[in-house]
Amino acid sequence: MVKHSPQRSLDFELIDEINRLKKSKNAVILAHNYQKAEIFEVADFIGDSLKLSVEANKTDADLIVFCGVQFMAESAAIMNPDKKVILPALDAGCQMSDMITAEALRAEKTRLKKIYPDLQVVCYVNTTAEVKAESDICCTSSNAVKVVESLDSDNILFVPDKNLARYVERKIQGAKNIIPWEGYCPIHERITAEYVLKAKEMHPKAEVIAHPECRTEILDLADTVCSTGGMVEKAVTESEASEFIIITECGMTGRLMRSAPGKKFYTVCNICFDMQKTDLSVVKEALEKEQFVVEVPENIRLKALKALDRMMEVS
Ligand code: 13P
Ligand code: SF4
Repeated sequence: MVKHSPQRSLDFELIDEINRLKKSKNAVILAHNYQKAEIFEVADFIGDSLKLSVEANKTDADLIVFCGVQFMAESAAIMNPDKKVILPALDAGCQMSDMITAEALRAEKTRLKKIYPDLQVVCYVNTTAEVKAESDICCTSSNAVKVVESLDSDNILFVPDKNLARYVERKIQGAKNIIPWEGYCPIHERITAEYVLKAKEMHPKAEVIAHPECRTEILDLADTVCSTGGMVEKAVTESEASEFIIITECGMTGRLMRSAPGKKFYTVCNICFDMQKTDLSVVKEALEKEQFVVEVPENIRLKALKALDRMMEVS
């Protein structure tokens, strides 16, 4: 457990250079809430997966610089075929999204449709374009319940996060049959109840906020369960409490310190090294060289777009 302290000093020359490049190239920088705090200094929008998808959808920039991981930049590329989308850290992947392939999903769909002819596939946005293309609708952690409730089918194959699937299942109180894929986020999965209980004992006045990618036993110990955007926009800012225990990826506390500087944060977290691969120098190089371009083959893009568009309608 860590009590977060302010970040190391900022390189203002680097920040100025990035802002100059951004302007000259008509670029927009989208940053996920888990990014390093220095990235927030140059970001035009900071948010969770849903907010960033919405911003990617409506931007009129020519160049979208995605400070996050591959699946996020890929979603922006799916929604913006006429724009150049770049991911500054080439190898920033997502271990959860690696837990399902389009081929495996096709096989499971075929098997389950024999049992449940009305089966629909809901895929968490933390997936490749190929997996999205095999799905009926996407969801993020902030709209997963709403997305599932919007479907007319009673049988849902929910991929790839089994923890988010369980969270949704409990929220809808068994109104539908949710069949979870056996994937998970190793960063959230590794968080133990022992650490959470210890943190609660040390900070009895603190409110406990957890991300729904955590295991059910962890969510049961939390006062609030929400997406990273929900933590920033609601759970912390709208709460009367002045202390919080944040259970998710470690970068989140830097984000919360920025949005609620008067409040105190303790964290039970693990680091997602993929999320932390992007820093200011990597962003500057990416803008200069317009690298690394994220492209999705057109036949896949069109199918994946349907699943993303359907989600946007529900949201
Ligand atoms: P959010 O959409 O809540 O930001 O979650 C994204 C993610 O990858 C969490 O691990
Ligand atoms: Fe993927 Fe987990 Fe990292 Fe989020 S925290 S990007 S789900 S590996």
